Amino acid sequence: MTSFWQKILKPILVQAPMEGVTDVIFREMLGLCSRPAVFFTEFVNVEGLNSEGRERLLPKLKFTSRQRPIVAQIWGNNPDNFTKTAKMLVKMDFDGIDLNMGCPDKAVIKMGCGGALISNHRLASEIFLAAKKGACSLPVSIKTRIGFDKIETEKWIGFLLEQNPDVIIIHGKTVTGKDKKKTDWEEIGKAVRLRNKLKSQTFIIGNGDITSLYQAKELAEKYGLDGIMIGRAMISNFWIFNEKLEPEKIPQRDKLKLLIKHLELAKKYYGNHASFNPLKKYFRNYISGYEGANELRVNLMKQPSIEEAIKKLLSVIASETQ
Ligand SMILES: Cc1cc2nc3c(=O)[nH]c(=O)nc-3n(C[C@H](O)[C@H](O)[C@H](O)COP(=O)(O)O)c2cc1C
Repeated sequence: MTSFWQKILKPILVQAPMEGVTDVIFREMLGLCSRPAVFFTEFVNVEGLNSEGRERLLPKLKFTSRQRPIVAQIWGNNPDNFTKTAKMLVKMDFDGIDLNMGCPDKAVIKMGCGGALISNHRLASEIFLAAKKGACSLPVSIKTRIGFDKIETEKWIGFLLEQNPDVIIIHGKTVTGKDKKKTDWEEIGKAVRLRNKLKSQTFIIGNGDITSLYQAKELAEKYGLDGIMIGRAMISNFWIFNEKLEPEKIPQRDKLKLLIKHLELAKKYYGNHASFNPLKKYFRNYISGYEGANELRVNLMKQPSIEEAIKKLLSVIASETQ
């Protein structure tokens, strides 16, 4: 069956899942500024989703009609919970399901989840099959790395290709190795060659240290990738997926209005639970590159609440129009 992945023009430009970043609000603002071809949620724990604490995790699975196609990323270690969660995600009308098999977080590794699955092929395979069982016709992808403590691209990616997932997203680093500084694109290219040799239909998407769309397209072409995933570079450049747009040329007033919208969306979606601090990391996206930008950012950081920050921004816009 054809999945949404196969209908997108290549190279497929994908928004990376990022815990504490890529929630419904982030994706809405990103989509307003420039659109990736595929959106991802933050990762959500399948054990939590099947426990009494479920309600607390559900906000992570909110999305709007503008954020499509959207893939829910899940993690955990109990195959049954992957089946149950996949069924839940089908009902929630997600377009795809992604299994996290690359997270290096110590707490996640300790539980045998995320990147630890690279050293546990049996459980990785059980999880994949369990998720497939619940996913019905939804495509199931796997986001991973090129090894646990050493590079083992052929062994690990070769094993994953045997499972026949729709897509493998490869962050070109190991989980705990000393190669943390740079993404190894040659290894990602090796995975593509392996896929071609095995005549597998699985798409391969590369990820790691991309800072521009130009670079993304160049690497996709060089290594024969089906797509590229971009993570951290989005945080300070919401226009990264639109190569025709130069963020520096967008009037500052328009950017300030967008920041107000961002803050208002936080109030709308999280109400009294909306906290101001996590939003501060986006200020540079909207306020940078002109005289007075630093001062305004510092001033906004010092505001006691989202409401006060909005007031300050409105007064800056009003004073500019006088
Ligand atoms: C703050 C933060 C949170 C992240 N959360 C997730 C996550 O929930 N799931 C996941 O698969 N990867 C997560 N990642 C990894 C990114 O998806 C991506 O693979 C990594 O940042 C490399 O891409 P980049 O160099 O373009 O940022 C996270 C990374 C960061 C910096």
